[in-house]
Amino acid sequence: MTLSRRKTLALIGGGTIVAATGAAAGFLTTRTPHDALRPWALAGQYDDPRLNALSYALLAPNPHNLQPWQVALVGTNGLRLFHDKKRRLPQTDPFDRQITIGLGCFLEQMVLAAGVAGQGVDMTLFPDGPDGAIAEAKFYPGGQPDPLAQHILNRRSCKEPFENRPISGDAITGLDMFADIYTDSETVTALKELTWEAWLIETMTERTMQESIDLMRFGKAQINATPDGIDLGGPFLESLMVAGLLTRASQENPNSTGFKQGVEIYREMLHATPAYAVIKMPNNTPQDQINAGRQWLRLNLATTGMGLALHPVSQALQEYPEMAGQYDLAHAILASDGGTVQMLGRLGYGPQTPRTPRWPLEAKLIDGQS
Ligand SMILES: Cc1cc2nc3c(=O)[nH]c(=O)nc-3n(C[C@H](O)[C@H](O)[C@H](O)COP(=O)(O)O)c2cc1C
Repeated sequence: MTLSRRKTLALIGGGTIVAATGAAAGFLTTRTPHDALRPWALAGQYDDPRLNALSYALLAPNPHNLQPWQVALVGTNGLRLFHDKKRRLPQTDPFDRQITIGLGCFLEQMVLAAGVAGQGVDMTLFPDGPDGAIAEAKFYPGGQPDPLAQHILNRRSCKEPFENRPISGDAITGLDMFADIYTDSETVTALKELTWEAWLIETMTERTMQESIDLMRFGKAQINATPDGIDLGGPFLESLMVAGLLTRASQENPNSTGFKQGVEIYREMLHATPAYAVIKMPNNTPQDQINAGRQWLRLNLATTGMGLALHPVSQALQEYPEMAGQYDLAHAILASDGGTVQMLGRLGYGPQTPRTPRWPLEAKLIDGQS
């Protein structure tokens, strides 16, 4: 998460804002974690059609940017996708539902990128049953480019307040095929309250908050060394780190100024939301979760193409005891006729935010069966 200047100033609170000068300014202009962002530049630079498609797939959205994918190349035109079981969120995603959705986003982005390169993909989900590979894919010449693919490099999860302006009717109609879109004030108000309450529960429950804190990367050096998780980078956040105002310890202390300001930033952001997008599936099987991820990715590319911002807000959909009331309420509001809400996202007009880090493709290739 790269916080904007506005947020950063808020984090400092009413205290002194020190202008960076001289050596400090020089330090601050060199804070971009180029190594961690290199996979974005390397996308599409591979000759093997599978590697070419995978180099785009790994830019897919995924929970806490854990990048839980591992791929084994098979023969000359096949591959198998595995869930790297070391990459899980046991506190907030105990059944790997969200992790599996992220793997669905990865698969859809792989297929879209293959199509641009004139490759089709035959895919079998869970070829060995639920505990084996996530998918087996065979590439063949002849795929068709999908216009959504042109937005892959511009797609983001936008974790910012959205503008206070309604979404055009044309945009809503265009997004209808990907998700349920809610713009009516009664539902939007109810969802603002739900997402805020759910966020507070996750933040104030020690073990679930600790799961996020453990995944925080503080500053350029940490982000480059471990290009995943929650990246706290950029000149302003790094200046707070240098000043000792933003540290792992401050994030672990709900009484610290930094922690309280963070809560205020989220309250403001979650309420600055004119609309929501929701993806439901008939059930909650691993196949449903993969399909939800594939659909979310397409939705996120479509919103990108329309100049709209999209931000998953998943807390109310998480399956742990403290969240049970919010989970039930989410389903009462959004799935009263049955089914499982797999994705809930804020939708609106927001800024273009920076790219998030990724592990290089080579770090995700494995030899045989995982
Ligand atoms: C299943 C799923 C759940 C997510 N839930 C949240 C969430 O609750 N809050 C949030 O800020 N981002 C959420 N995200 C977005 C990820 O944090 C984001 O995809 C990741 O950091 C990579 O950033 P990018 O999408 O901008 O490339 C979720 C993404 C997925 C696929």
